[in-house]
Amino acid sequence: MPLVPMRQILDEAAKGGYGVGAFNVNNMEQIQAIMQAANDTNSPVIIQASRGALKYSKMIYLKKLMEAAAEEFPHIPVAMHLDHGNSLETCKEAIALGFTSVMMDGSLGEDGKTPNSYEQNVAVTLAVVEYAHPLGVTVEGELGCLGGIEDGHGAGLSDAQVQDHLTDPAQAEDFVAKTKLDALAVAIGTSHGAYKSGRKDPVTGEMLPPALAMERIHEIHKRMPNCHMVMHGSSSVPKELVDIINQYGGNMPDTFGIPIEQIQDGIKHGVRKVNVDTDSRLAITGAIRKVFAEKPEKFDPRDYLKPAREAAYEVYVARMKAFGQAGHAGDYKPMTLEDAKALYR
Ligand code: G3H
Ligand code: 13P
Ligand code: ZN
Repeated sequence: MPLVPMRQILDEAAKGGYGVGAFNVNNMEQIQAIMQAANDTNSPVIIQASRGALKYSKMIYLKKLMEAAAEEFPHIPVAMHLDHGNSLETCKEAIALGFTSVMMDGSLGEDGKTPNSYEQNVAVTLAVVEYAHPLGVTVEGELGCLGGIEDGHGAGLSDAQVQDHLTDPAQAEDFVAKTKLDALAVAIGTSHGAYKSGRKDPVTGEMLPPALAMERIHEIHKRMPNCHMVMHGSSSVPKELVDIINQYGGNMPDTFGIPIEQIQDGIKHGVRKVNVDTDSRLAITGAIRKVFAEKPEKFDPRDYLKPAREAAYEVYVARMKAFGQAGHAGDYKPMTLEDAKALYR
């Protein structure tokens, strides 16, 4: 099966009332683990690469690995998606490489840090839609800014500042009408990485989970029942995975992720794509640390990359079941980009 346009995966998810995990990849082991999990749970799936991932893998390697994934599992609908594209040029590059879907993150400027104005966001997102749709390629845009506590994406907003950059439902309606994008990433208080909350109990000083504005998702869904929403920063950061890392020499402070129940609530209200990267990173790191700690005599990378791949697989299987995509791989006949071109005409 060729890689399918992401739009079809989202349209089908909307029909079935489920969400689809979009998992970030940087290497072969992650791609293999995702595909094995998709095969074993019979799930359609979205594999995504950030600009950092493309740079790390020199682009061509990830492209070929994703193509291999589609070839090895021809019965699994797979979309190949660019995560957080920062300009029309970057999106064009990904499309030329064979990506069937791109994100134009116009909520931020090209530096990936400075918030854009609403008008700048509309202009750059529309430019990508006008370029991508005639080629059958799906476009995701973002309105509002995620909190950025510890990684390279995001404006580095504090919890208080995040409140001023949440997605405004009325503006979302205008944004979707003006840009005609396929999927809308919303800012509701999530952030990338393992440290998603700067909130502390004022009395005990204990860390508190991030406060999410789920009502914004509910409201957007009410206004636009056919709009496919995307939740970024949706790793759950399970304590068991952090504990394994710390048990074997890591040093991660207490932290909170996004509870699965909140993601499921989003899915009930129009969230169709759920971005998860950090949970896979945690699983991989924990498994590798365990081998290094327990078998210090080992030096063959396969001795730790195999357990790492297995640990990531467990995370993907759990998320595919929780998001509801499990069991749906065979529900529809996959589209090509040619078919998708006709949709947009
Ligand atoms: O958007 C954030 C993803 O987790 C990708 O992160 O830029 O470190 O590859 P990255
Ligand atoms: P996490 O860091 O929560 O996994 O989020 C990943 C993401 O949103 C990628 O775009
Ligand atoms: Zn993201």
